[in-house]
Amino acid sequence: MISRNEATVNPREHLIRYGGDVYPEIVEKAQGCYVWDATGKKILDFTSGQMCATVGHNHPNIVAAIKKSCETAVHLFSGMIPRSVVQLAEALAKIAPKPLNKSLFVNTGSESNEAAIKMAKLVTGGFEVVGLGGSWHGVTGSVSAVSFASDRKGYGPGMPGAFVLPEPNAYRCPIKHCKDRCDRTCLKVGFDLYDAQSTGARAAVIAEPVISAGGVIVPPEGYFDALQQEAHKRGMLLIFDEAQTAFGRLGHWFAASHLGVTPDIMTVSKTLGGGIPLAGVITTDAIEETCHRRGFSFYTSHVSDPLPSAVGVAVLETIEREQLLVRSREMGEYLADGLNDLKLRHEEIGDVRGMGLLRGIELVKDRETREPHHELGALTTERCLELGLSMNIRRRPERGSVWRIAPPLTVARGDIDLAMTIFDQALTEMKSRIAGRRQSGTIAPEPEKTYPSQ
Ligand SMILES: Cc1ncc(COP(=O)(O)O)c(C=O)c1O
Repeated sequence: MISRNEATVNPREHLIRYGGDVYPEIVEKAQGCYVWDATGKKILDFTSGQMCATVGHNHPNIVAAIKKSCETAVHLFSGMIPRSVVQLAEALAKIAPKPLNKSLFVNTGSESNEAAIKMAKLVTGGFEVVGLGGSWHGVTGSVSAVSFASDRKGYGPGMPGAFVLPEPNAYRCPIKHCKDRCDRTCLKVGFDLYDAQSTGARAAVIAEPVISAGGVIVPPEGYFDALQQEAHKRGMLLIFDEAQTAFGRLGHWFAASHLGVTPDIMTVSKTLGGGIPLAGVITTDAIEETCHRRGFSFYTSHVSDPLPSAVGVAVLETIEREQLLVRSREMGEYLADGLNDLKLRHEEIGDVRGMGLLRGIELVKDRETREPHHELGALTTERCLELGLSMNIRRRPERGSVWRIAPPLTVARGDIDLAMTIFDQALTEMKSRIAGRRQSGTIAPEPEKTYPSQ
């Protein structure tokens, strides 16, 4: 008999571990900005699930769209186009920066980037793809080869033709050139090195508009114009991976519209499905036409499925109806004020950065040396969770300890106030715990726990 044991003790007993640590309790319910575990504990979700629940968990419009799909169609033959797919493509064509006009709908961000890279290869005839340091584009073949945030070790060679540019991180300049203001030398040096290695078969440059898993790095003004020029100069397409930045996270429909830079191909995922697996590739008529003529195929089991696209339409309508773009900008400012206020009181907060409702907080032992404070980061994250606040931290020796704060766009001032109170308390307590250990001569071990943050 299939087990339905409600009292399963070890949530991991029959599960393959897939990275990082799992929350110790089973989680039973999610609603709005909160989740509840099996003990009834209510946790404020400042990660929007895995960065997907931007309209809040289980928004009634999403629930309604799912129910309606269950009454009409959930899944179809991949060669059949449901009405919701047409509606979603039309809605995206309306809001996407021109001339992006045609969409393909798949399920995950990894797939959308695979499709984008395949298209760029067909259009250019090349195969080389350049990504930014600290970036994350997914776990599958080509896209993991151009993801540099983590998880590269132990799997053998990746896709041939993958290259990295040093990322424009003004707080921790990867080429040790700038401090606090990136002057884009990293871009020049990166392309010089790439040119020296290139076989000439160039295909694409792929970039996140805000390098999220790499530490919430906001590139300096003009960076993406310059990146696009460098790409086009070499006959490469520019791909923006807007998995995290599209649909309001930064306070705009797309980062591209805000930056005034229109990529050749844009991918969207996490924030389009409101928690349902949905991803898209958006490109120009000309690129779509060339790809089609050259035999482009991305025929997956769930391409153009009705249920996820119906949810995508509901997400876009909800963002519009509830004016979540404006709300993201307003709440983002309120959150930034709260975090900057904490920075005034905690020397260990070295940097607060980000846009809209995507904010990064970097923890250091010393504001001058900027030595990362991994121990404080890990302990504070755990304490926050005990106190009812879920936050995502990224701890990498070379990239520092950075929290990524990204609540749903529906977050209220009261939720942000509560988060700041918990955060303040957790930081204060963990600082004094570490100081106490030092005074008593106990060397505090680096906590083992890791929190993946793609
Ligand atoms: C910027 C970015 N691109 C792509 C992906 C991959 O998306 P998925 O996990 O849905 O395959 C992620 C996910 O973490 C991401 O953050």
